[in-house]
Amino acid sequence: MPEFQVFFNDHTSNDFNTLFTSLPPERPYFATGVPGSFHGRLFPNSSLDFVHSSYALQILSKVPKELLNKNSAAWNKGRVHYASAPDEVAQAYSTQFAKDITTFLDYRAKELVMVGLMVLIMPVIPNGIPHSSLRTCAIFDFLGQCLMDMAKEGLISEAQMDTCNLPVYFALPKEMTQLVERNGCFSIERMEKTLPWARVDVLYVQACVMHLRAGMEGIVKL
Ligand SMILES: C[S@@+](CC[C@H](N)C(=O)[O-])C[C@H]1O[C@@H](n2cnc3c(N)ncnc32)[C@H](O)[C@@H]1O
Repeated sequence: MPEFQVFFNDHTSNDFNTLFTSLPPERPYFATGVPGSFHGRLFPNSSLDFVHSSYALQILSKVPKELLNKNSAAWNKGRVHYASAPDEVAQAYSTQFAKDITTFLDYRAKELVMVGLMVLIMPVIPNGIPHSSLRTCAIFDFLGQCLMDMAKEGLISEAQMDTCNLPVYFALPKEMTQLVERNGCFSIERMEKTLPWARVDVLYVQACVMHLRAGMEGIVKL
């Protein structure tokens, strides 16, 4: 029976104690926590056989700086995301995503052994569908409108509202394919769809809110 060592990675601010206490006590692997951003190097050269990332690569390393520049066509005044924003805003997000994915692939290629495998699960938007029609993007729009209302009521300043942009990008499958091919460190063996929202009862508002809060609260608080 081979022995497995599993490295769990998250930001240094992650509560690794909660992670370790939630693991089954009788587990067929050794568990290790690895703090740090996956946008940087995390492991020694050729030290991993398998890499798995789940629902994390949509989170950008930073908000594209043009979004905060009043003189840029991508200035994102009054919004927190690119859904319903001018094309320049979506383009700035897409460019940042391309940089982040390329760095991610470069670093993981160094860390994986030559015959290593990687499985990435990430939210994407179907090819040919406008961003604004994606349910999650519509919810981000609502969040932006709530912040606008709070600014109008004086609870936050308009300047605070204007500096709030969610560093989250949903790529198109074909965009991801192009980035992997252009990077050249990996080949795609298989790409398939999952429907995570099918597991969330959207009519049950509380479930919807909890689902989004689990993924977004840390980002909004930053
Ligand atoms: C939406 S949660 C997904 C959690 C879990 N992988 C899952 O599938 O249920 C995204 C996780 O990625 C982590 N994360 C985001 N950006 C990261 C980065 N640059 N480096 C390491 N972890 C990151 C967040 O802290 C968070 O724990």
